[in-house]
Amino acid sequence: MTTKPYVICLMMTSLDGKILSDAWGNDPRIQRLRGKFEETHEKIGVPAWIVGRTTMEKDFTHFQAPILSQNTKSLGREDFVAGSNAPSFAIAIDSQGKLGWKSDTMHGDHVITILTEKVSDAYLHHLREIGLSYIFAGKDSIDLPVALHKLRTLFNIEKLMLEGGGHINGSFLNEGLVDEFHQLLLPVVDGRKDTPSVFEISDKKRKKDSILFKLRECQQIDDDVLWLTYAADH
Ligand SMILES: NC(=O)c1ccc[n+]([C@@H]2O[C@H](COP(=O)([O-])OP(=O)(O)OC[C@H]3O[C@@H](n4cnc5c(N)ncnc54)[C@H](OP(=O)(O)O)[C@@H]3O)[C@@H](O)[C@H]2O)c1
Repeated sequence: MTTKPYVICLMMTSLDGKILSDAWGNDPRIQRLRGKFEETHEKIGVPAWIVGRTTMEKDFTHFQAPILSQNTKSLGREDFVAGSNAPSFAIAIDSQGKLGWKSDTMHGDHVITILTEKVSDAYLHHLREIGLSYIFAGKDSIDLPVALHKLRTLFNIEKLMLEGGGHINGSFLNEGLVDEFHQLLLPVVDGRKDTPSVFEISDKKRKKDSILFKLRECQQIDDDVLWLTYAADH
């Protein structure tokens, strides 16, 4: 069996399972509800988190364009492990190297970016210059089992928080890579038809009709929020 970290998915959702909390306005009660995500992340206390490229650029790198080195010398597609002893990790899944990185840390966590082999040499040279770790998982598209295997073996990451968005969560779930799911069910309704939900799986890639979980815990926390903990049924 492939060695991989134990994957805990944490998401906050509306009562109708939608995940784009930015659209819910700025009422102080909504702002308090949004804060529940970080509070719960801290309570769970796992020091490695992973998100999709869209979430990383929207919520963390703030749409910074990719930064390229002047150095364009050809580089092999070997993994670059710069911070294997770091106490905590922020991990991005960015198949084409679209994220712009100014430093090797995000909110104090050492950054690891997961790339495919098609990213440019100048992009890789820049990552090396700032000491940001990168690993390859696939030629043209991300192979998630390979990525997880490398996170476990190269960085000794035993537990990993999977924190969105819906597309990356859906891909992990479809591949059977989610071990636990924590849903913060917020007392708010979104009601938009096209807003993504917690797990988005494309029809072309779907492997099962549905995926079962077992309820492990149900806690009512402040502000009428339910913290539901499920274990994967695999
Ligand atoms: N409510 C919550 O708890 C919560 C938590 C996190 C995020 N969010 C919200 O979720 C939204 C973003 O969600 P999203 O679903 O649009 O994007 P996402 O899951 O964050 O990122 C998807 C992107 O990741 C890259 N990717 C690479 N390999 C992939 C694979 N195998 N499967 C899926 N994606 C892969 C693709 O970009 P490339 O092709 O460029 O590589 C893809 O477009 C944001 O608005 C964010 O604020 C909400």
